[in-house]
Amino acid sequence: MDNISDATKHFVDLRRHMWIAGIEVDLRRLIWQIAVTGKYISAKIHESNRKLAGFKNIYDEDQLALDKSSDQILQSQLRFSGFVREYASEELDSVIQIGKGDEKYYVTADPLDGSSLVDTNLSIGTIIGIHKGPVLSGRNSLVAAMYITYGPLITMVYSAGKGSHEFVLNREGEYVLSSENITLHERGTIYSLGGLRNEWTDDHRRYVEYLEAEGYKLRYSGGFVPDINQIMIKKGGVFTYPSLKTSGKGKLRLIFELQPMAFLMEQAGGMAIDGHTDILSIVPESLDQRSPVYIGSKFEIEKAREYLNASKRKGGLHDL
Ligand code: F6P
Ligand code: MN
Repeated sequence: MDNISDATKHFVDLRRHMWIAGIEVDLRRLIWQIAVTGKYISAKIHESNRKLAGFKNIYDEDQLALDKSSDQILQSQLRFSGFVREYASEELDSVIQIGKGDEKYYVTADPLDGSSLVDTNLSIGTIIGIHKGPVLSGRNSLVAAMYITYGPLITMVYSAGKGSHEFVLNREGEYVLSSENITLHERGTIYSLGGLRNEWTDDHRRYVEYLEAEGYKLRYSGGFVPDINQIMIKKGGVFTYPSLKTSGKGKLRLIFELQPMAFLMEQAGGMAIDGHTDILSIVPESLDQRSPVYIGSKFEIEKAREYLNASKRKGGLHDL
């Protein structure tokens, strides 16, 4: 299948898309179930009325913080689904078994990424990785990834290794195909910079100065999902959360945030590196391992590698 939207024109819903794409039946049911769970998380965000921390509902009952309740919604939807053996989430300290033990898939989640933006009404999101083995090891185990954005619209981008595709939730509650086989240009026009400038390394600063001299426009919301989504939908650009002087591994988490996004970005023709190595080639040693990241279209990521390798060649200024 190359381009089903040409054949079927206006309306292709998520289930139909995955079926025509020939995605394995359990995997497509799982992706569907997670996409539907996005609707419940979105309902929870609405119910919270922009309060991130615990609050009282209309019955005067204490409510969980939004990120915790999003985690519980995901967990309860996936538990005994028949597809998921284990579940790992940014909200939990360890991997938990949620199936009977004979299921095929292992799911990782950042249930509510960017949750501190809730009160500002900026977009936030959910990031999911689907692995085929218990050892969560990037390229060796990831079979699918997806993210959902909760913004003016709810959108969802998924890949099961056959391109990255965007869907928009319509008023009838259906995920309708809006962008099939997202394909980044070789080079984009936007840059998104995490980390305080006075904590950047010299190599990183020089790279940013290069981007600025080239006229890149700054786009940074403080939410990883919408910032990555912007690069996907505008078909190019770069997001960085680099190695900092006070935190050599940057901020973002490999298993929950970076590897799923790297999977989606590669499937869209982009790249993701930690400055030197592909994000998907890193085998995480712990669940909450962090990594610096440079993710986006090929030109900017290759350029980042050049700048970050510069001081390595000169004898090394900092250690990733
Ligand atoms: O999950 C961590 C996160 O909130 C990301 O969504 C976002 O990209 C990043 O942190 C923002 O970090 P900072 O507040 O340092 O810019
Ligand atoms: Mn996050």
